[in-house]
Amino acid sequence: MTPRRPYSLLARYYDQLTRGAPRMNRLAREKVLRGILPRVRTVCDLGCGTGTAAIELARRRRRVYALDFSPEMVRLARRKVRRLPLRLRSRLHLRRADIRAFRLPERVELVTCEFATLNHVPHKSDLALVCRAVARALRPGGWFLFDINTPKGFAEQTPGGHWVDRRDFKLVMHGHWDARRSLCALDLEWFLPARSAGGPRGRLWRHMHERVNHVAWSNAELRRTLRRAGFRRLRVWDGVDVRPPMPGARRGYDTYYLAQKPQQRSQR
Ligand SMILES: C[S@@+](CC[C@H](N)C(=O)[O-])C[C@H]1O[C@@H](n2cnc3c(N)ncnc32)[C@H](O)[C@@H]1O
Repeated sequence: MTPRRPYSLLARYYDQLTRGAPRMNRLAREKVLRGILPRVRTVCDLGCGTGTAAIELARRRRRVYALDFSPEMVRLARRKVRRLPLRLRSRLHLRRADIRAFRLPERVELVTCEFATLNHVPHKSDLALVCRAVARALRPGGWFLFDINTPKGFAEQTPGGHWVDRRDFKLVMHGHWDARRSLCALDLEWFLPARSAGGPRGRLWRHMHERVNHVAWSNAELRRTLRRAGFRRLRVWDGVDVRPPMPGARRGYDTYYLAQKPQQRSQR
């Protein structure tokens, strides 16, 4: 068994494994940002993965910065971007960066952090770093939109053994939720075709392991940290109220936050 850098295999199969996510993200984004999104000209998508949302946002003539820490995710996003027409490509700025310590060449009107990317930072204390970096990246009056899985969601949904069986890969996901520390370790057991193998009736599979760690915060911790980073005018939605209906979706599992940076320093 070969231990892997997190997201390296996940990146390779990410779009296959998350087919419904782009539509879900788009519908939720449009609902939460109704009245705001049409006016936005500059965006930064944090933890952009393979770049699907960033490309969608750039199609509406916006300048989009898209950041991700995983070299594989960024490589795959770049590959998608290279296939786009030049006028669209020129509006997309993809970079490998850590959402806890990023800086942009200009201040933007909107920062997005979708599909529970914020849960992927390693430590609880990282929330404050991300919020401060976002506040720095936004223009006065700019918006920060993110969705997050809740402690209840992790407690009730962390898989004991979820099995994905595809022709070109098999995957078993099993996790451990530590309620005391609000940490979830999700182990991905990949079975990929072994290159040299292949008998007449089947294939040999190579086992590889990848671990993706998650952190969760209470609503009170999130509100407090956003306020300390300078955000005001906070709105919160339960996932079931903004996402398209999904089997198994329950109230309290995931939450959408929209926070605004004040227009002026003195605004409270
Ligand atoms: C669940 S995926 C979401 C990807 C994308 N936003 C989407 O909607 O499909 C989480 C992403 O966060 C990235 N990520 C994790 N930790 C990060 C960090 N500290 N800085 C930047 N990106 C990070 C991962 O590489 C991964 O692409």
